[in-house]
Amino acid sequence: MKSQAGILDTLKSLLTGELTAMDVYLVQSKMFANWGYTKLHDRLSHEFDDEKGHAEKLIERILFLEGTPDMSARLPFAHGDTVLAMMRADLELELKVASNLNLAIAQAERLGDNGTRALLVPLLQDTEGDHILWFESQVEIIETVGEQRYLAEMI
Ligand SMILES: [Fe+2]
Ligand SMILES: [Fe+2]
Repeated sequence: MKSQAGILDTLKSLLTGELTAMDVYLVQSKMFANWGYTKLHDRLSHEFDDEKGHAEKLIERILFLEGTPDMSARLPFAHGDTVLAMMRADLELELKVASNLNLAIAQAERLGDNGTRALLVPLLQDTEGDHILWFESQVEIIETVGEQRYLAEMI
């Protein structure tokens, strides 16, 4: 099916955000496992699975609209070297993704592309209600109790 003007570019740039998050959470989940922070490993694995699911949805939609997914592009991302720095960077990434999703949903609405809109709304719900919520609370907890005490609970 042919897409409305601009929607394919939007879906492709959203895919870039999901692939970036997938890469980041995969490596962080492995780093946390390597350091023995089992709970953080489990949580970041869950984030990775979610982002993979989001990427799959976007790839399916791009192909359905007769586009070609770009699997090589990534958003700029600064990996932190402490757990707190990583959580802050992850939160920034999630906020950027949410902002891009909101713009994309508004664009789909303007164009009357309800199929794309219906696909994007659950991604936004996961991004805000799960990912942003979790990273935001981790940053707040670490800032409150200190990184050492926080990490002692994550083994
Ligand atoms: Fe996502
Ligand atoms: Fe996310």
